[in-house]
Order: sequence, then structure tokens, then C-alpha cells
Amino acid sequence: MAAAGMPDRVVVVEVGPRDGLQNETSQVPTPVKIELVARLQQAGLREIEVTSFVSPKWVPQMADNRAVLAGIPRPAGVRHSALVPNRQGWEAALASGVDEIVVFAAASESFSQRNINCSIEASIERFEPVCSAARAAGIKVRGAISCAVGCPYEGAVAPQQLERVARLMREVGVQHLGVADTIGIGRPPQVRAALEAALRHFPLDEVSGHFHDTYGMALVNTLASLEIGIQRFDASVSGLGGCPYARGATGNVATEDLIYLLDGLGIETGIDLGRLIDAGNFIRARLAQPNGSRVARALSARLPCR
Ligand code: HMG
Ligand code: MG
Repeated sequence: MAAAGMPDRVVVVEVGPRDGLQNETSQVPTPVKIELVARLQQAGLREIEVTSFVSPKWVPQMADNRAVLAGIPRPAGVRHSALVPNRQGWEAALASGVDEIVVFAAASESFSQRNINCSIEASIERFEPVCSAARAAGIKVRGAISCAVGCPYEGAVAPQQLERVARLMREVGVQHLGVADTIGIGRPPQVRAALEAALRHFPLDEVSGHFHDTYGMALVNTLASLEIGIQRFDASVSGLGGCPYARGATGNVATEDLIYLLDGLGIETGIDLGRLIDAGNFIRARLAQPNGSRVARALSARLPCR
């Protein structure tokens, strides 16, 4: 039973293979990416953001998008998604057999320009034909709004800015909205205000939290989100990642740390923490990096390796 006022079940979307690895400067071999996805599935993850169909000149690490999708095991019941910035990305994603796509905008103009080289309005115009085509193909479109509470170039972002972009995304057919604290700067009052702004245009089960953990606020922001009924969160195994267009930003909250919190609150996720820790240790060993999850570090010494 979940604690009073908390949802009984939460969906965790693993974004490590995409948001986590996109920031790695040396090319991660495709078979390592494929093995990571397979291990995440064995740990019980049922929604995994596996790659991006963006320009390889902008994010070379994601250039093997087709090969990753062709190589991963595709069991029934697991949904594999990918980022798509425009029609070109959509066509490649469709041909690669994605289950779901993610279009991504920003709540701040400066970040929009830096990240996708166009204004917020222009990005929404690009999403419109992508959303129509995806709907016709029966593929769900999630949206993400970066800099939901703060921007590395403009500072604080008001909830009204987020709300406006959320409305525009809803109008062009985006079905789900991820509220992204790209630089991890938010604290519960700002994060809650951003989520409430999103909830004016999307239903409760179609709003998720995407919290980078740069300031160590991601778990407390998760708790604040759970308290207003949010039931979906993105997380990155072993805390992999950052953002190529937000210098100094660290990865999303580590999936292991999120699961430890949710388990303790009695909230079901279907994820096996031990196997998840193994997946995180696997990728960090391949990257020759220490594990960024506090829970993984604390428990690794005590759990047998598989
Ligand atoms: P552009 O240069 O303005 O695009 O980039 P363009 O339409 O002028 O095309 C230029 C070249 O890119 C052309 O090639 C196109 O074919 C190619 P050329 O003729 O020069 O050889 N191109 C593409 N190639 C492959 N796939 C495509 C594609 N589109 C164009 N889809 C563009 C605009 C959006 C493409 C570019 O800015 C881009 O790819 N940006 C990458 C952004 C990115 O991946 N950022 C990181 C992910 S977002 C994120 O992490 C935030 C999130 O986690 C939430 C949060 O935490 O905030 C989601
Ligand atoms: Mg992110």
C-alpha cells in the first residue's frame, strides 16, 4: 500500500540510453548501447527512450540511432521511444520502428535557439506535421519542454512561459507533456507551479516530471510532484548524462535512487532494484566512470554481482 495521498503505482521512463549517453564525448559502441537496453528491460523497465533522430552533426553520439533500434530486443509490453525534432527525424524514426516519439521544445527562447536552432514558435510549427503523421501511423507523441523553471541563458522561467508552450504543444496534437528541469535548479514551489501550469492543458496521467539532479533537488521535487498526483517520471540509470546545450548540467535523477524512494513509499513500479544496479554498474564500467547513483554505490558492496 502506498503512503496516504500517494499514487499506488508509478511509471518510470528510463532515459539513460538517450539523455544519459547523448552527452558522452567519446563514441559509445553500439553493442554496448544495445546491451544496456537489454539489461534495463531485464530489470523490469517497460518504457525506454533509446535514441534520438537528430542531426548527427549536432549530436554525433546518437548517429547510430537506426542500428540501436535494429539491435535491441523488442519484447511485447516494452515501449521504445526516440527524440524527433522535425519531419526528417520523424521519417527516420518511423522507418526504424519506434513505438513512440518525443518532440521537444523549450520554455525559453535562448535555449530553443541553442538546442534546436529555431524559435519556440518555429519549433511548434515543425511539430505540427510530425504529430499529424504520427497520429495517422498510430504512434504516440510525447512532448518535452526544457527549461521549465530555469534557463542557463535567461535565468528564472515563469510558469506562464511554460503554460504558453504547453498550450501550443497541445494544440498541434502532442499527447503527453514532460516538464523538464534541464539544469536541475528548481525547488518544490517552482516545480509544482510548472506542473500545475502543464496540468491546465494536459490530464494528470499525461504529465510527467523530468528532473536533472544538478543541485541535488530531483528527489525532493519528485516527492512534491507525487503529492499533487503526478504518476510518471523520467530517470537515468546510474545518473548518466547532462545536456550538450546546458553546460554544467548533470544527468537526470538516477533511476536506482528514484526506485529506492518509490519502494520506500510503497509505490509499485515493477522494477527490480538489484538488476537495475547491475545495469548501471555495467554501463559505468564500460564508460570507465564511477556510478552516479548514491543508492547503487551504497548497495553495490552488499549485493552479489549477476
Ligand atoms: P539545423 O542545422 O537548423 O537544421 O538543425 P536544417 O534543417 O537546416 O538541416 C541542416 C542539416 O542537418 C542538413 O544536413 C539536414 O539534412 C540535417 P546537410 O544538408 O547539412 O548535410 N538534419 C538532420 N539529420 C538527421 N536527422 C534529422 C535532421 N534534421 C536536419 N532529424 C536540428 C536543426 C533540430 C536538426 C538540430 O538543431 C539538432 O539536431 N539539434 C539537436 C538537439 C538535441 O538533440 N539536443 C539534445 C536533446 S534535447 C534534451 O536533452 C532535453 C530533454 O532531455 C529535456 C530536458 O532535460 O530539458 C528532452
Ligand atoms: Mg533531459
